[in-house]
Amino acid sequence: GRELVVAIDGPSGSGKSSVSKEVARRFGLAYLDTGAMYRALTWWCLDRGVDLADADAVVEAARTFPLAQGTDPDRELVLVGGTDVAVEIRGARVTGAVSAVATNPAARAVLVARQQELIADSGRRIVAEGRDITTVVAPDAEARILLTADERARMARRGLQNGGVEDAAQLRAEVVGRDAKDSTVVNFTEAADGVVTIDSSDLTVEQTVQAVLDAVVRAA
Ligand code: C5P
Repeated sequence: GRELVVAIDGPSGSGKSSVSKEVARRFGLAYLDTGAMYRALTWWCLDRGVDLADADAVVEAARTFPLAQGTDPDRELVLVGGTDVAVEIRGARVTGAVSAVATNPAARAVLVARQQELIADSGRRIVAEGRDITTVVAPDAEARILLTADERARMARRGLQNGGVEDAAQLRAEVVGRDAKDSTVVNFTEAADGVVTIDSSDLTVEQTVQAVLDAVVRAA
């Protein structure tokens, strides 16, 4: 088919991942979860005892860590050195440390280059989601979307994802703290020129998917 890169950015809890996967399925596109790459690199650094405050060591890890990542929206695959880390990279340990890796500009440059390779490898038929896809990774995407949600909706979704058992204040501190750290290096709260903002606060997942599908059809 013809080239169709769909770039989707947004904060944590905006519903990006489920929506992006479903949009990929509906259009028959590949799916790239760039957050999983930052998480996998963080997992590797923690596993190897790489000091996250040592900027050069983290960059070296970014260059050399043996990541194999799938791009099938129906089958999440994140292997680091043959170890399946898909579940572990969503845990509290990696989530609490990932911003330290993501705020390293040279490590970002290495991961951005890999992401651009994966987009090229897809034949430019892919939905890529993260924080800087519309602005840095694929500013030339056929469709560029910023998916937002107000804090109340984002907390509710995070709570659901964590089984609804987590202490609300702690959850809030965690999500707000991570977004605040991430915001120091990437702007994912304001839409860049040509980027369509979709506010999912009062939408169901299906309604959000529909809004994104409409925006893609209009843009592409
Ligand atoms: O999207 P997710 O919550 O899995 O992303 C995990 C972390 O990876 C973010 O908190 C951020 O630090 C980093 N990230 C990033 N740029 C991206 C995607 C994720 O800095 N494009």
